[in-house]
Amino acid sequence: MSTESRKTLHKGANTTLAHGPYDPYSLHGFVNPPVVHASTVLFEDTARLRDRASSQYTYGLRGTPTTTALEEALDQLEGSAGTILVPSGLAAVTVPLLAFLSAGDHCLVVDSVYSPTRQFCNGTLRRMGVSVDYFDPHVGASIAELMRPETKVVFLESPGSNTFEMMDVAAVCEAAHAGGAVTMIDNTWATPLFFRPLEHGVDLSIHALTKYPGGHSDVMMGSVSATAETYKRLRATQLQLGINAAPDDTYLVLRGLKTMGVRLARHQASALELAEWLAGRPEVAEVLHPALPSFPGHALWKRQFSGSSGLFGFVLEGSLARANAFLDALELFGLGYSWGGHESLAVPVDLSDRTIATGPQSAGDGKGTLIRLQIGLEDVVDLRDDMETGFRAAAAV
Ligand SMILES: Cc1ncc(COP(=O)(O)O)c(C=O)c1O
Repeated sequence: MSTESRKTLHKGANTTLAHGPYDPYSLHGFVNPPVVHASTVLFEDTARLRDRASSQYTYGLRGTPTTTALEEALDQLEGSAGTILVPSGLAAVTVPLLAFLSAGDHCLVVDSVYSPTRQFCNGTLRRMGVSVDYFDPHVGASIAELMRPETKVVFLESPGSNTFEMMDVAAVCEAAHAGGAVTMIDNTWATPLFFRPLEHGVDLSIHALTKYPGGHSDVMMGSVSATAETYKRLRATQLQLGINAAPDDTYLVLRGLKTMGVRLARHQASALELAEWLAGRPEVAEVLHPALPSFPGHALWKRQFSGSSGLFGFVLEGSLARANAFLDALELFGLGYSWGGHESLAVPVDLSDRTIATGPQSAGDGKGTLIRLQIGLEDVVDLRDDMETGFRAAAAV
């Protein structure tokens, strides 16, 4: 099958992941793409050297067959015109912001954004002379009222980091475009299997590939997938900044992608089962999971998303000491600031940098502690037993 026909395959998600756009027959039939370690690329003669714009590869930084394989796989999943790779999910946030903002511009950012994104906006962007305002994730079409003539970027994340507020993505994007802004979304929670932002009017879809695409807690990488109108400027900025993804890391993500569908199905089912179980526990004030009908953003999730991943939160009633006892008693759940890998994790959530109170009302002031859970690939019964032990330890405080 030709490379062109592979790129346009429209089959089920797992078929797409298993086969991808990479053409094994482009390299002797080996089923996986090569890991190309490269700086120098040789040209056969001066004519080709001078006319390098017509060569696909010219220098290691500018891409290799390995990075192309991952970029094309992500384009296929996101329905994007082009994808760039960067060395972390956070770089996948900062590079597009740098690409589309200049001194004097205004940027609107959802208040439930990943905390390091906020730090970049408050730090580097403001230092550059960009003004930044945060908006309520439930803003919908009334984002129009916050737009200024100089608003150049509207940055979304849905669900929100740690608190899982759902946004009406199409309504925000329509109003942002009407005001002349470019829209970006951190789509890490859903992966392109559960949400395809470009179909909802988003211009740039951002992923921490570190999470579900890598899937094994052993690699850091990010990607930005863009529309035809925004891709050129995004790619130019990536190359001007001099960053790309390393070949071995790229290969790890390509390898992770092959099983992302089956892993996500498992993360989804286990997380839902445990979220429902937690909702029935007397120690739990609230469960924050978009796929639970009791969650305030459930209708928005249902209308826009086709699934839910393994990350959600719950509020454990009582003092911080009780929450610490719960967390310290866990044996299977590790205490660690990541997610999307094979192993379950738990962290207490700090919401002190939020400017708009859209998080759980039952957390804080000694009422309760918001705990974020990443549900891994373990057996649900063992994870439940682990949390039972945690609840017993909390009760003993
Ligand atoms: C929603 C979200 N976006 C981006 C990132 C950043 O990814 P990375 O850790 O690869 O920089 C994270 C990391 O936790 C995240 O949770």
